[in-house]
Amino acid sequence: MFRTNTCGELRLSDAGKKVTLSGWVQRVRKMGGMTFVDLRDRYGLTQVVFNNASDSELNEAANHLGREFVVQITGTVAERSSKNPHLPTGDIEILADSLRILNTSEVPPFTIEDDTDGGDDLRMRYRYLDLRRNPVRRNLELRHRMTMEVRRYLDSKGFLEIETPMLVGSTPEGARDFVVPSRMNPGQFYALPQSPQTLKQLLMVSGMDRYFQIVKCFRDEDLRADRQPEFTQIDCEMSFIEQNDVIELFEGMAKHLFKEIRGIELTEPFLRMPWADAMKYYGSDKPDLRFGMTFVELMDVLKGHGFSVFDNAEYIGGINAKGAAHYTRKQLDALTEYVKRPQIGAKGMVYARVAEDGTVKSSVDKFYSQEVLQQMARKMDAAPGDLILILSGDDTMRTRKQLCELRLEMGRQLGLRDKDKFACLWVVDFPMFEWSDEEQRLMAMHHPFTHPKDEDIPMLDTDPAAVRADAYDMVINGVEVGGGSIRIHDAALQAKMFEILGFTPEKAQEQFGFLMNAFKFGAPPHGGLAYGLDRWVSLFAGLDSIRDCIAFPKNNSGRDVMLDAPAALDQKQLDELNLEINLPKE
Ligand code: AMO
Repeated sequence: MFRTNTCGELRLSDAGKKVTLSGWVQRVRKMGGMTFVDLRDRYGLTQVVFNNASDSELNEAANHLGREFVVQITGTVAERSSKNPHLPTGDIEILADSLRILNTSEVPPFTIEDDTDGGDDLRMRYRYLDLRRNPVRRNLELRHRMTMEVRRYLDSKGFLEIETPMLVGSTPEGARDFVVPSRMNPGQFYALPQSPQTLKQLLMVSGMDRYFQIVKCFRDEDLRADRQPEFTQIDCEMSFIEQNDVIELFEGMAKHLFKEIRGIELTEPFLRMPWADAMKYYGSDKPDLRFGMTFVELMDVLKGHGFSVFDNAEYIGGINAKGAAHYTRKQLDALTEYVKRPQIGAKGMVYARVAEDGTVKSSVDKFYSQEVLQQMARKMDAAPGDLILILSGDDTMRTRKQLCELRLEMGRQLGLRDKDKFACLWVVDFPMFEWSDEEQRLMAMHHPFTHPKDEDIPMLDTDPAAVRADAYDMVINGVEVGGGSIRIHDAALQAKMFEILGFTPEKAQEQFGFLMNAFKFGAPPHGGLAYGLDRWVSLFAGLDSIRDCIAFPKNNSGRDVMLDAPAALDQKQLDELNLEINLPKE
């Protein structure tokens, strides 16, 4: 047994004790006849002292230690003369009397300290070294504690943890699949699951009643800060429930996590906001409610005064940035450039400041009388010192999304998006379908197994685009942390859904026959939800990207730069799989 103590646990009360510590050399400092070594393991850092006067040979050996050497030392715990208040072990040091080098190390490519000199790419290439750093390791510890709490909560509610296969069939809808060629079935492919959606529904048909799984999901989609090609869901399904039951149970889990992990007691029920309101007031189906600045529609006030941009617009909307009238022309020009960036796509921005005496000065004063501007300010609930920002456009939804970006940016600039503040809500009553320009057809907004709202079912024949779904998302601080729905459990309704989505009966049978057939054998009413574990952890850890709470993440081009994956296969493997590579010519 190497270890008898850890580097993080010793305190002043241990003074005088003989201890053995094993770990990595973080730093070696020589001062006169003394050598100080900071020894690190998962639990913390301890200062070890070697003294030339008491043992010159040992001190000489310590002088030759390099960063990240793995060593075992034995010594006596002593009170430190110059204490380090930033370290839990900062009151003590170990007076070493033996040193064993368990392994040497090359000079690491970056310093393994909280503030490292390593760039992103380098740290990803040597991720195993990056994981030695406190901030990164702490994220994994947090992730562990969260998964333990999730299991504890769901177990207490009678959920069974059941694994489902990773090699499944490719299904249309949703994102692109990652596919795996089958050697034993030439020319055929498995797909990695985008989620265990249909399998968990089949488990309900099997009578499992309450299922959960902390499970990897795979989606070949464009990556962003909150998206990885493989990510982890806390996936759940329940039978004999209604929407409210699912919402209450998983709101309970959210509150459990807040309490156990962050020490925050959330006593009020989470707000439930219809999707239509989320779009109208925030221009997003995942509104950040840490701050106000809700949209105010200004068509009735600002149209018809000769300003052609507004006169020709379908939508004119404003936000009130309270107390921001001090914004300079330069800052406002920068904001205008921000919303005009191609990713956002606004044509321009109009602003108005409310002066201390209440007069409103706008960037389009020549078209509007003070009276109209006052009317606008009243509608915007603007007071002296406020700044009103307005966008317009010929497509309401598109303009709202642009205004959403502006609102988020203003929230950021005004310091209203505090990472230690949490605003949770459910977005409910999503539309069942959304039109896809690319596919030129209706697509399921959630997925094709989602139950329409009972009262909207008659509209499936007459106006499918207006049908709302029994679907719900949980949103925290503008991040979609989970989503789910009540499912269709009736084979005929499921078949109708596929028809609306443009599947012929044969195609629907070929792709989803396994599910529709199962529904013929007594499927219970059921529904569920999946939380995105990576997003939960990064919210609780205050991270900007979910990458930082994943042990071995992919970069923005979907590469694992440490493993150098993906990579080409050799010809023998390709032949075995009957695959031929046919890259487009450069
Ligand atoms: P959905 O597609 O909404 O639903 O996914 C559920 C949750 O998973 C997280 N998530 C992701 N996290 C990181 N990277 C990604 N690429 C990524 N994609 C999704 C989000 C999201 O809310 N089967 C349904 C759930 C159900 O209906 O029960 C599903 O997968 O936090």
